[in-house]
Amino acid sequence: MRIVIANDHGAVALKRNLVAWLKSEGHEVVNLGVDVEDRVDYPDMAVAACSEFKKGGYDFGILLCGTGIGISIAANKIPGIRCALVHDLFTASMAREHNDANFIAMGGRVEYSNQPTEILAAFMDAKFQGGRHAERVGKIAELEKE
Ligand code: RB5
Repeated sequence: MRIVIANDHGAVALKRNLVAWLKSEGHEVVNLGVDVEDRVDYPDMAVAACSEFKKGGYDFGILLCGTGIGISIAANKIPGIRCALVHDLFTASMAREHNDANFIAMGGRVEYSNQPTEILAAFMDAKFQGGRHAERVGKIAELEKE
């Protein structure tokens, strides 16, 4: 898969962990996040990754900040982006199966009960179920027109 990733200063170590794992699994990763812990603003990181994603050629994107909250809120303001803030294997799978999320967000300062790489793998292994879920995702797209 081809994946774009961005992070703020609150998730440098998590980003490194996820990028190393993705590359070890043979995926291509475009890293638009920061690699040092000097402060940056998470909305700027969201815009960078989402703009790159919208150019096309990506399977999905990953956004990381201290909690995953701010960067997912920012990403979801961008038309066409459905960024799911996931916390475990269940929410990661459902983000794709029901919501057809094209971004996932996690937090570098959050203690997860699963390894973040396992959470990411659960998202990557899941498939959008379509049907009634496609109708609901379509209604989300309609909201962007209001
Ligand atoms: C940065 O201090 C922090 O606010 C940010 O990483 C994120 O947690 C915001 O939601």
